[in-house]
Amino acid sequence: MALLAEEVVSLSKSVQEMSVDGDEPPSHYIVKDSFIGSADDPSPSLCPFPILDISHFSSPSSSFPETEVDKELEKLKLALSSSGCFQAIGHGISSSFLDKVRDVTKQFFALPETEKQKYARAVNESEGYGSDRIVSDKQVLDWSHRLTLRVFPEDKRRFNLWPENPYDFRDIMDEYALKIKVVTDAVFKAMARSLNLEENSFLNQFGDQALMQARFNFYPSCSRPDLVLGVKPHTDRSGITVLLQDREVEGLQVLVDDKWVKVPVIPHALVINLGDQMQIMSNGIFKSPVHRVVTNLEKLRISVALFNEPEPENEIRAVDGLVDENRPRLYRNVKNYGAINYECYQKGMIPLDTVRI
Ligand code: OGA
Ligand code: NI
Repeated sequence: MALLAEEVVSLSKSVQEMSVDGDEPPSHYIVKDSFIGSADDPSPSLCPFPILDISHFSSPSSSFPETEVDKELEKLKLALSSSGCFQAIGHGISSSFLDKVRDVTKQFFALPETEKQKYARAVNESEGYGSDRIVSDKQVLDWSHRLTLRVFPEDKRRFNLWPENPYDFRDIMDEYALKIKVVTDAVFKAMARSLNLEENSFLNQFGDQALMQARFNFYPSCSRPDLVLGVKPHTDRSGITVLLQDREVEGLQVLVDDKWVKVPVIPHALVINLGDQMQIMSNGIFKSPVHRVVTNLEKLRISVALFNEPEPENEIRAVDGLVDENRPRLYRNVKNYGAINYECYQKGMIPLDTVRI
């Protein structure tokens, strides 16, 4: 019986092994079209990246004068309607706790491969430990390993895929997810207020059974960072993504006005970017940015992304107050955008283009 492409690749050397051995990346990892540049390169412009103090958005916000809150809401609107992302400080999560999340992530990826394989992603599934889902033999592969876990709804957790080693992984992730939920709820409300909408306009569309998916990313160093990418250019399918970056190593870049802009490391900040579903709900006012990850010659990098999505059975739609004669509806109402996204991934299509009116 012919092997599936995914099985063929899993039989060859892993990215981590190639990294340790200092191998040249094989052809199916090489990005063909353009020079990439590495994380240390001065080339991508380092324009000021928006930093927002989101303590202004927590309720009750009465400790701040109204003018200050309005100013921060204006900054939020500007950031989300231009680059589609910002760095959040004032989120109320301690730096020492963020370091714990990074530590358990690093500890997991440092385990022997046989230990990590206990949590291996099955072919054609999205949850578990592994590399890219392979859908075509022409696919260029990412220089990374990842662990993907459903975190919410809580009763959908598949604990057989949650590492038991390090021993505190589960507890820390459980606590982190709850803390991030508080942050995202506050940001959804602030997003609505920044557009003069009723504050639950976005939050309501997520529903009680909203999804939160965690993706732990591990990017080994690479002998040729100019040839491969940690993650190829993409937009997130989520409503909103909260990314905890590595404490020291840069790598994430966002496409702003057709230029790749580095997202600097701010150890105590969370990077918040919008996903496609929020672009739909905001009728295109807020942007789901194209982003990618470059690799590094010497240093490995980790990150933890939490993707927040409306419950799949909810039909999401442009909020009423954002549609009028001057701004017609841009996207049709959609259910289960995750499935649309995956179908497009298989066909090499841009998911948002397929739901445009
Ligand atoms: C992702 C992603 C960025 C990073 O996982 O979708 O864009 O810095 N990650 O790891
Ligand atoms: Ni992403």
